[in-house]
Amino acid sequence: MDDAHLPDRSPVADVAAALQGKKVLLCVTGGIAAYKVAYVARGLAQSGADVRVIMTRSAERFVGAQTFASLTGNKVYTELFGEGPDVPHVELARGADLAIVAPATANSVAKMALGIADDLFSATLLTVRCPIVVAPAMHTEMWENAATQHNVHLLLERGVIVVGPVSGALSSGDEGPGRMVEPDEILGAAAEVLVRSQDLAGKRILVTAGGTQEPIDPVRFIGNRSSGLMGIEIARAAHERGAKVTLVIGPSNVPPPPGVDVIRVKTAQEMRDEVFELAGDADAIVKAAAVADWRSAEHADQKLKKAAGPPEIDLEPTPDILSELGHSGGIRKPTSILVGFAAETQPDAGALSALAEEKRAAKGADIIVANDVSSPDSGFEVPTNRAVIAGPDGVIDVGLVTKRALAKALVDRIAKLL
Ligand code: CTP
Repeated sequence: MDDAHLPDRSPVADVAAALQGKKVLLCVTGGIAAYKVAYVARGLAQSGADVRVIMTRSAERFVGAQTFASLTGNKVYTELFGEGPDVPHVELARGADLAIVAPATANSVAKMALGIADDLFSATLLTVRCPIVVAPAMHTEMWENAATQHNVHLLLERGVIVVGPVSGALSSGDEGPGRMVEPDEILGAAAEVLVRSQDLAGKRILVTAGGTQEPIDPVRFIGNRSSGLMGIEIARAAHERGAKVTLVIGPSNVPPPPGVDVIRVKTAQEMRDEVFELAGDADAIVKAAAVADWRSAEHADQKLKKAAGPPEIDLEPTPDILSELGHSGGIRKPTSILVGFAAETQPDAGALSALAEEKRAAKGADIIVANDVSSPDSGFEVPTNRAVIAGPDGVIDVGLVTKRALAKALVDRIAKLL
């Protein structure tokens, strides 16, 4: 599946405007495609970006540092240790809006994946907090090697944007996958990342995730199989685009994304209380949580003993948080966007769409994401989802994609409505 390569890429119309005034770190590693990266440096500088070039030792064997210095008007950095008290990798990393690694050799991809920091390039990349665009270039065998594929996968999992490689003539005289994408494509990807990374700045997004646990006695509960991953990916995608994100999450073992405020809850009632507390400030509320629909009407203080026989448990409904948010005024901002999920046992996109529209009306939500929880590759406890997104402007069939890609598609939709 190729979806982490920005499937929903919408090219930025004005690349120069997106790059203007941005602090861009351009990391050049050792491959023949380094000469083409001079055009990337020139494009960035001509767009008005403040470009700092870092070169590895091997990169310097292909292109002289002076080329990049002349094109960017800035000193080129090559050494991890400066003279005096300076710590170049920290200075360079801080405040960067974007880092580009081009060409990215198999070795540099591996260092990034493993978190190795034994030269200026790798130490800086381990320090940056900004988005990273990587343009791999290597021989086909190296690209196709399981180690490289695994490393690239790790980078994608962490939200690094990987552009290319493409198939074409390689320096070895062969033809095949491994050729770096053209400089214009790298500039386009950079512009797109910068536009995306800002379009939710100043917005507050409240996301709920995970299942709730409704106690029966001190050791037993009514729950469901939700892992929390879908909501976590939505929180990550919104945070990456500059939103201030609060994640209200039921019991989950999945680590939440850095930079997101996390509030942990157990029951539907606790989730409702936290959501209602925060709803008034939120520009969008995304209810990805699989809230238990029923709870035990009575909660035994002591463990129910087996010898007493199977208990009779009276169930009562939990508060329907989404529905309350959708139908009662005064809880959330009138302009806010309300997003709900619909867990359905239907793999068919047509059936999912109909159920999504039905639930959108019933819950008073702006958007409903209906996902299939009946197939082994979709729904609870798996990293992929088959889903449709129903909104005021129609239904989109997203198909079977990673939860990260679905989160990006959903956040795109929310960003458009906001
Ligand atoms: N939801 C909620 N509070 C509940 C139950 C559900 O806020 N007590 C929200 C979920 O977070 C989700 C949406 O409602 O965004 C839909 O959940 P789902 O389980 O699919 O639907 P239900 O309303 O429970 O309806 P049904 O199970 O009959 O399909």
